[in-house]
Amino acid sequence: MASVNGDGRRARRVLVFPLPFQGHINPMMQLADVLHSRGLGVTVLHTRFNALDPALHPEYAFVAVPDGIPADVAASGSIISIILAMNAAMEASGAVHDVLASVLADGPAAACLFIDANLLAVQKVAAALGLPTMVLRTGSAACFSCFLAYPMLHQKGYLPPKESQLYTPVDELPPLRVRDLFFSSSNNHEMVRQVLARATETVRNSHGLVINTFEALETAELDMIRRELEVAVVLAAGPLHKLSTRGNGSSLLQQDRTCIEWLDTQAAGSVLYVSFGSLASMDPGELSEVAWGLANSGQPFLWVVRPDLVRGSDGSGLSEGFHRAVEGRAKVIPWAPQQEVLAHSAVGGFWTHNGWNSTLESISEGHPMICRPQFADQMMNTRYVEAAWGVGFELEGKLERKKIEEAIRNLMKGSQGELARERARELKKKVISCLESDGSSSLAIDKLIEHMSSL
Ligand code: UDX
Repeated sequence: MASVNGDGRRARRVLVFPLPFQGHINPMMQLADVLHSRGLGVTVLHTRFNALDPALHPEYAFVAVPDGIPADVAASGSIISIILAMNAAMEASGAVHDVLASVLADGPAAACLFIDANLLAVQKVAAALGLPTMVLRTGSAACFSCFLAYPMLHQKGYLPPKESQLYTPVDELPPLRVRDLFFSSSNNHEMVRQVLARATETVRNSHGLVINTFEALETAELDMIRRELEVAVVLAAGPLHKLSTRGNGSSLLQQDRTCIEWLDTQAAGSVLYVSFGSLASMDPGELSEVAWGLANSGQPFLWVVRPDLVRGSDGSGLSEGFHRAVEGRAKVIPWAPQQEVLAHSAVGGFWTHNGWNSTLESISEGHPMICRPQFADQMMNTRYVEAAWGVGFELEGKLERKKIEEAIRNLMKGSQGELARERARELKKKVISCLESDGSSSLAIDKLIEHMSSL
């Protein structure tokens, strides 16, 4: 049932504004798909930076918003710098106000604007226009608990991290240790603190919070957030890609679908899928160690080598010798239809950087993981995979082909891998049940629709 705006017109659409990074775009567009399937029209506001392709969603309206990100900051690849620069530019100009006002003036009444927590500047404009905002947190509930705890973590001296204390348990946030905290490896701590404080402020100012997770996976973390936050609703509505009819539908890079035919030729559960998300990178020496660790493991593998994966090169750093060594047993592509790959019966394990979407997608298909986190929430996602859920293990320390080969054999054929696989399959059953019509995530969407109609 759509909501009714103050001026009596029936609200027949929702506005969404994702943060312009793949790991934030996907869950926001998946949420938009779910709301659209419940009868709401969708208007997508997006930046020019990493602009979305309207052709991927012809049934939605797309409106570009000037983001004001300076070219050198955009080129820096620093997600923290881009977030801060974009919000500062948006707050300094009236462009967002003008665009949002014109969007509201022409078209069906809007129930609300769904924003990424990192868009405080947009929330301020919406508030000035009387438009309610709700926030989608694209990371785990544990990650947002860490955001909320950030002032305490500094007061108690956990952060900034000291080299000698990286394995110190954070008693207030079990099972996390200092090294698992958000961005604990970064040296721009003051900027990180600012971004997390602003994200928390955005949520506190909102009419409700949706998190891309599910109740059975993060019960304690969701309880902690509900105790700490005084927003109207905190809804665990994930895994969103499983509720959306077009999971892969908002990829910034062209997905190479030839890998699906290749997977069709591989034995069930035999393939290790290897992908490090849209932002993680490595140096040429690491690429070579990963390549030969994969080759020497003897395991069939599907490996995503993005054009910008290798620092200082265009990603084609794999030798002819490597390709010959793995002929017929491996497929290397620049970008995959990842959700379809993980759902394919030939895949038996996932070597990942543990971005939240990849972690949730792996759990949703019952795959155990080798974890190789780099930054942001990836370390904490890894810690939960290994210590809380037991569905994988971290490949720590320097990347070396012998260690890699052993980790792959352990995951795909060893007892540790088999135990992790059994637990991953148990979690997959919980995903399936939360998505049933009376499951926790489906009920969360029902409650969300009802809540939006009350705004
Ligand atoms: C970023 C941060 O790095 C991550 O820590 C945070 O949790 C979310 O934002 P990213 O690094 O891109 O995300 O990783 P991830 O969260 O896994 O998102 C990647 C998305 O791209 C996934 O939805 C995945 O299905 C998709 N993908 C990945 C593809 O479609 N093809 C690929 O080849 C690889």
